[in-house]
Amino acid sequence: MQLNGAKIIVTGGSSGIGKASAQLLIEAGATVLITGRNAEKLELVAQEIGAIALACDISKYDTLTAQANTAVELLGGGIDALINNAGIGEFALLGDIQAEQFERVFSTNVFGLTLFTQALLPHFKTQNKGNILNIASTAASKGFAYGTIYAASKFALRGITQCWQAELRKHNIRVILVNPSEVTTAFNNAERIERPEEASKLRPIEIAHVIKATLEMDDRGFVPEVTVWATNPQSKQGA
Ligand SMILES: NC(=O)c1ccc[n+]([C@@H]2O[C@H](COP(=O)([O-])OP(=O)(O)OC[C@H]3O[C@@H](n4cnc5c(N)ncnc54)[C@H](OP(=O)(O)O)[C@@H]3O)[C@@H](O)[C@H]2O)c1
Repeated sequence: MQLNGAKIIVTGGSSGIGKASAQLLIEAGATVLITGRNAEKLELVAQEIGAIALACDISKYDTLTAQANTAVELLGGGIDALINNAGIGEFALLGDIQAEQFERVFSTNVFGLTLFTQALLPHFKTQNKGNILNIASTAASKGFAYGTIYAASKFALRGITQCWQAELRKHNIRVILVNPSEVTTAFNNAERIERPEEASKLRPIEIAHVIKATLEMDDRGFVPEVTVWATNPQSKQGA
C-alpha cells in the first residue's frame, strides 16, 4: 500500500511500540489516529508527533462501535490500516493466579481488540481492501514461567489472526501478525514510565520499521506473520 496519504489507526499509540510506529508512518506521509486510556498523555503525544488523538479504552466493550465510527470520521472517512497494538500484561505463577488478572488482560488483548476490529470491518469490506496488523509477541508461540495469563492472551491473538486471514483474504484485506521479543517500553509498568534503552535489547523503532515494511509492500502480497528477536539479548553494553 501507499503510505503517503494513507489513513491509519494505531491503538495504544501514546507510548512504546505504538508511538514509534505512528511517528514513522506519519513521517512517511500517512494520517494517523492514535488511541489510549490516558487522554492527557495521548493529547501531548499526538501534538508531539502530529497525530489525531482519540481517547478510547479498548476494554470498554459497549463504547467500541461508537469509538470506531468516530475514528473513521476523524480520519475523514475511510481507513487503510488498523494497527491493534494496545496491550497489557499480568504475570503470576500457577498457584497465585487471580481471575481478575485473566479478565483484565483478556478484556484488552483479546476481547476488546476483536470487538474494535469488528466495528471497523464494515468500512474495510465496503472498500474491498485494507490492512489489519495485530501486535502479538514471541509469547504467542512459546510459554514461559509466570506467563500463563499473558502467553494465553497472545496465543489467542495468533489463533484469531489466522482465522481472520482465512475469512478476509477474499476481501483483499491483509491480516498481519507481528511478534516482538522484549522491547524497552512502559509495558507492565504501573506508573506507565518508559524503560531506558539498553544496547542489547530491542527499541520500539525496530518494531516500527517492521510494521512499516509489511504495510508498504505492494497490495498483491502480504506477510502473514513476522517475529523480531534481539540479536544477543544477554550481552552487556561495551562487552
Ligand atoms: N515491550 C515488550 O517487551 C513487548 C514484547 C512483545 C509484545 N509487546 C506488545 O506490544 C504492544 C505494545 O506494548 P508496549 O511495549 O509498547 O507497551 P506500552 O509502552 O505500555 O504501550 C501500551 C500502549 O497501549 C495503551 N493501552 C493500554 N491499555 C489500553 C486499553 N485498555 N485501551 C487503549 N489503550 C491502551 C497505552 O496507553 P494508556 O496506558 O494511556 O492506555 C499505551 O499507549 C502490546 O500489545 C504488548 O503486549 C510488547
